[in-house]
Amino acid sequence: MRGFFHVTVCCMVVVLGVLPLSLDAQLDPSFYKKTCPNVHSIVRQVVSSVAQKDPRMLASLVRLHFHDCFVQGCDASILLNNTATIVSEQEAFPNNNSIRGLDVVNQIKTAVENACPGVVSCADILTLAAEISSVLAGGPDWKVPLGRRDSLTANRTLANQNLPAPFFNLTQLKAAFVAQGLNTTDLVALSGAHTFGRSHCAFFTDRLYNFSGSGKPDPTLDTTYLQQLQKTCPNGGPNNLANFDPTTPDTFDKNYYSNLQVKKGLLQSDQELFSTTGADTISIVNKFSSDQKAFFDSFEASMIKMGNIGVLTGTKGEIRKQCNFVNKKSAELDIASVASRESSQEGSVSSI
Ligand SMILES: *[C@@H]1O[C@H](CO)[C@@H](O)[C@H](O)[C@H]1NC(C)=O
Ligand SMILES: *[C@@H]1O[C@H](CO)[C@@H](O)[C@H](O)[C@H]1NC(C)=O
Ligand SMILES: *[C@@H]1O[C@H](CO)[C@@H](O)[C@H](O)[C@H]1NC(C)=O
Ligand SMILES: *[C@@H]1O[C@H](CO)[C@@H](O)[C@H](O)[C@H]1NC(C)=O
Ligand SMILES: *[C@@H]1O[C@H](CO)[C@@H](O)[C@H](O)[C@H]1NC(C)=O
Ligand SMILES: *[C@@H]1O[C@H](CO)[C@@H](O)[C@H](O)[C@H]1NC(C)=O
Repeated sequence: MRGFFHVTVCCMVVVLGVLPLSLDAQLDPSFYKKTCPNVHSIVRQVVSSVAQKDPRMLASLVRLHFHDCFVQGCDASILLNNTATIVSEQEAFPNNNSIRGLDVVNQIKTAVENACPGVVSCADILTLAAEISSVLAGGPDWKVPLGRRDSLTANRTLANQNLPAPFFNLTQLKAAFVAQGLNTTDLVALSGAHTFGRSHCAFFTDRLYNFSGSGKPDPTLDTTYLQQLQKTCPNGGPNNLANFDPTTPDTFDKNYYSNLQVKKGLLQSDQELFSTTGADTISIVNKFSSDQKAFFDSFEASMIKMGNIGVLTGTKGEIRKQCNFVNKKSAELDIASVASRESSQEGSVSSI
């Protein structure tokens, strides 16, 4: 009797000692090693075949991941469509008519579900697609920490609040990144994703004609580049597209930073990194423009850091079956989730 009691207490101690660890699960590059060992190559195959027809998609997929992570964390909330209970982030100002790749994510999800049904989250698919896009464009590769789960909610208000705007000055850019736990080096490194992809003219047209209401172009724009952009974006052509990197538009390289040094940053938020007098970002731009390995190493570290923002792990959230919608629940589960939502709301009210 005493022996049995001893063993029971001993096991309870072990279980209690292990449980908190597994509830507070960390992301891990080998998360799907047993449950979906080929997930990386499945994602790569779809992204690669899409990019052969549409090279711009690689940059679009990196942007989609970024716009997901800055809004209640990397939880695939950006993929949720409008429904009776979801106000989609896709219609927030930074996303509406400019995010791309939703259909590609659905293609990837279908391919992944065919191989390993119900296992891989849409949030992890977005993260993997971003890394693979960097690689396919000639940029760095890294081991992607995995194990994110998908949100049950979206938040358009937060998408409007948190995502940095193209007309932000350096102070505003730093604040938007600090709010997500990202520092000045992360800001400069992640901005380097503008080494590929396109921007709608609407995001920078004021710089070409009437900068900050001055009646003149932005003085931090190179004059030849200004003339090129005015041709690309005649007033009234807000939906025309310009390359972010006028030198190597579809290649992931360090030219973004050498462009900034010669006043060829496309958005105000790009050029601010180099043209703000006395800024601590200037030396980082100079470093990255002279040393591609330093840029790639920082980009990798900052992407992993960004990929960790606000992730749902363990039993939080869910693995969505279709990335644009939360899973349908049985009536019984619905009651349970309403009850748990009510109790968590009470919890947050009492903690204020
Ligand atoms: C989700 O919404 C997007 C527009 O934001 C639309 O293109 C797409 O067809 C919708 N997806 C589904 C599965 O309804
Ligand atoms: C998003 O864009 C569509 C098409 O231009 C427009 O009809 C809709 O009102 C926009 N949504 C928001 C919230 O501004
Ligand atoms: C969105 O986030 C804001 C700020 O955290 C919060 O006040 C609001 O309730 C959230 N809205 C939804 C629909 O979750
Ligand atoms: C940046 O923009 C904010 C908001 O418009 C403004 O308050 C601030 O003075 C600006 N900072 C600089 C350095 O121009
Ligand atoms: C430039 O913008 C300012 C403020 O929006 C406006 O008052 C002014 O008329 C514009 N100038 C030109 C030349 O369009
Ligand atoms: C900023 O974060 C990076 C990791 O992304 C880290 O290596 C670096 O030391 C940090 N810089 C500062 C100034 O804290």
